[in-house]
Order: sequence, then C-alpha cells, then structure tokens
Amino acid sequence: MDLDAEHLADSAFWAAPPEHRHRVFAALREHDPVRWYEPRVSGFSRACTGFWALTRYEDVWNASRNARVYCSGVTIDIEEMPDELGEFYPSMINLDDPEHFQLRRMVSAGFTPKEIAAIEPKLRATARRIVDDVLDRFGDGTEFDLVQELSSKLPLAAIADLMGVPADDQQLLFEWTNAVVSPDDPATGIAGAAEASRALADYALQLGAERRARPAGDLTSALMHAEIDGRRLSTEEFANFFILLASAGNETTRNAITHGVRLLTAHPDQRRAWFDDFDAVAPTAVEEIVRYETLISNMCRVLTEDVLVQGVPIAAGEKVALWYPSANRDRRAFDDPDRFDVRRPLHRQQLGYGGGGPHFCLGANLARAEMTVMFDEIRRRIPDLHVTGEPTRVLSMALNSITHVPASVR
Ligand code: HEM
Repeated sequence: MDLDAEHLADSAFWAAPPEHRHRVFAALREHDPVRWYEPRVSGFSRACTGFWALTRYEDVWNASRNARVYCSGVTIDIEEMPDELGEFYPSMINLDDPEHFQLRRMVSAGFTPKEIAAIEPKLRATARRIVDDVLDRFGDGTEFDLVQELSSKLPLAAIADLMGVPADDQQLLFEWTNAVVSPDDPATGIAGAAEASRALADYALQLGAERRARPAGDLTSALMHAEIDGRRLSTEEFANFFILLASAGNETTRNAITHGVRLLTAHPDQRRAWFDDFDAVAPTAVEEIVRYETLISNMCRVLTEDVLVQGVPIAAGEKVALWYPSANRDRRAFDDPDRFDVRRPLHRQQLGYGGGGPHFCLGANLARAEMTVMFDEIRRRIPDLHVTGEPTRVLSMALNSITHVPASVR
C-alpha cells in the first residue's frame, strides 16, 4: 500500500469502493497512525486545510474525551466553511466550555433514556404506518426505493414530533434538511445549502417565538421556557440548535436504517440470529450497524496546546481529524473487526456516536430507539425485506450516505 498516493481529503479517495478505504485506513493504523495531510483542493467544492489524521481507536477515544486540549470552537470540519454557511452553525457541536456546557445542560433533559422511552409508543405507531404504506403499495413484491419509502420517514417524523412541528410542515423540513447537509452535492451547492439554512432558521425562529408565547408540551416549549443560572435560550440560539438537530439527527439515522437492511441482505445468518431472538439481540445489533458502517466519517478538533500522540509531536493551533470508520475497525479494540456480527459484545464501545466526551451524540438514545422500533416492525411484518440492487452513494468525506437503493419485501 503506497500511503503517499492516497489523500484522505481527496474526492478520488471517497469515490473509490468502501473496501479500498478500509484497506487504506488499516495501513494507516499499522504504519502511520498519526499522519499529516497537506492542504488540498480536490474534486470537492470546498478547499481543505492541512490536518493530522488519527486513525487508531485509542487515539480517537482519548482526543474525544479531552475537550480542553482538543477543542471544537475553532472548527470541526476538514473543509473550510464558506461565509454564507458559517452564520448558521454556532450551535453546541462547535462550541467549547463554558458555552457548550451551558447549552448542553439546557437541552439534554429532552434526550434522556426516560424521555426517549416516553416517546417510544409514538415512534412505534409511526413505524407501523410506514410499513403499512409499503405493504399497501409494494406488498406484491414490486421494487421500490428503500430510502424514499422507508428509511427516511421515521427519523424525520421523530424529530418533528419531538420539537412540535406539525405533520403538514414535515415535507418542507425534509427538503431543507437534505439541502443543509449537502453543500458538496452539485445539485444543491453552497448557495442551495445556505438558502435552506435560512429557510430552516426562519421556520425555527417562528416556532420558538410561538412556543414562548403559548407552550404546547413539546421539546421546543420546554426549551423556550427552561431557565438555567437565570438565563433563557434566545430564539436565535434555539434556531441554531434546531438546524443542528434537524441536520445531525435525520440523515445519520436514515442511513443507519438503509445500511442495516443492506447488511441483513448480505448476511442472512445475521438476519436470522437477530430476528429469531429480537429483543435480546437488538441492543448489540443496532450498535453493530453503526460500528460497521460508521455513518459520520470524521470530526475535527484544533489543539489548544502541544501534545504527543503515539510519539508524534503536534503543535498548538494545528487541526486534528478523528477518523471514526478507522477507529471502529481497529483490531486493537475489536476481534475480527471486518466481520459484521449482530451479537458483538458492547465492550469496547464503538465510536460511531463519538468517543464519549462532552460532544458525544446527544441523539444516540433516540437513534437507537428509532432503529430498534423500525427493525422490529420490519421483522414482524416484512421479514424478507431486502435490497435488490446497488446503492447510489453520496460523494462525501463527512457522511456515509445512500440516496437510493432498490428493495423488495418478497
Ligand atoms: C445513527 C445515528 C447517529 C449517528 C451515527 C450520530 C453521530 C454523531 C457523532 C459522531 C457526533 C459527534 C460526537 C463527537 O464529536 O464526540 C454527534 C453529535 C451530535 N448528534 Fe448525533 N448521530 C446520530 C443521530 C442523532 C440524532 C437522532 C440526533 C438528534 C435528534 C443527534 C444529535 C446530535 C447532536 C445535537 C450532536 C452534538 C452534540 C454536542 O456537541 O454536544 N444525532 N452525532
């Protein structure tokens, strides 16, 4: 493997088959686990700055948990953020303490296991309706687009319900959110993403103001009335948080469901192992889908002081990229890491939701609940659901996304 011939921020690397990327990451973990990549302008529309790539489990885990040194406030992206988009992103994911801690404390009450358990019946009812619809229209075995007809629906409805967005507005939310996370997709472009961010922000400002005036028992109302240390969330802070939730919680969970169906198609023994003992296996199965496919590829941090990682000195002010798909295939952390195993023990914890530091995915419990409910409904009603062709993948170094894949229930 010629590591000099591969650049992790080059579009060619992400256009190659996933197996190639896993071979490169494996070589990096073995031979160059802390490697510097020069700034680059590639087929992606935005330029990337230089960065250090951390590819071993241990290093990604440590960096995630040391937010004082590995900070998020400067940037979390490899690519430079265009000015048009920057104004919409000062939410918790790219804040440091004390602002991060304050904001996270205000919103985290809506995402505890107890809160998620309380909305589970609603998630189940939505999953049932989605499968009813698939059965009605494609029950005879007609091919359909899995992403459009099944995977995309529950994540969107879950966030919309949680935040109190009426059903009639969900389609709009869906379109804006897709555009916000796709500035590199030529069909959207930076202008399209900026326009959608503005539309989402306007929508959220209005929703926040309405709930401030008339609380309605949803998370938006709770947030607009929460008071911590004598401070309330401003409607602008709420709007930024709303955009973050809509973009962080939608496409990731949608991809987890799509990849899950793909994996169960490719591994019928794993489908049997899970579906024959659903409740017992679900906690490890939903974690294994997220480990194996690792839906978010990286997050960056900028160093606040000099450090030594695996003996390599990195200077304060430099950017470090945490490569989750690589960490999740590290043989130092997982036995036989390239095997998809729905019963893989939960220790060690996979890093698809981050390494457990202060920025650990706020929606992890919600994502797990959505996946469990959706696959339970699939098991009961359409247990033979399978993909029938190759997926259309998004060319992205940030997200492991599928836009279309044909499927059938027979
Ligand atoms: C399978 C689905 C999901 C995956 C793989 C995923 C992955 C991630 C990752 C890797 C991070 C960054 C962690 C870090 O920097 O340490 C993150 C942060 C975040 N996620 Fe998720 N996520 C998923 C679903 C969701 C959902 C459903 C929501 C909300 C409805 C959500 C909301 C957030 C938020 C708000 C943050 C920022 C937290 C902070 O900075 O304190 N995510 N997620």
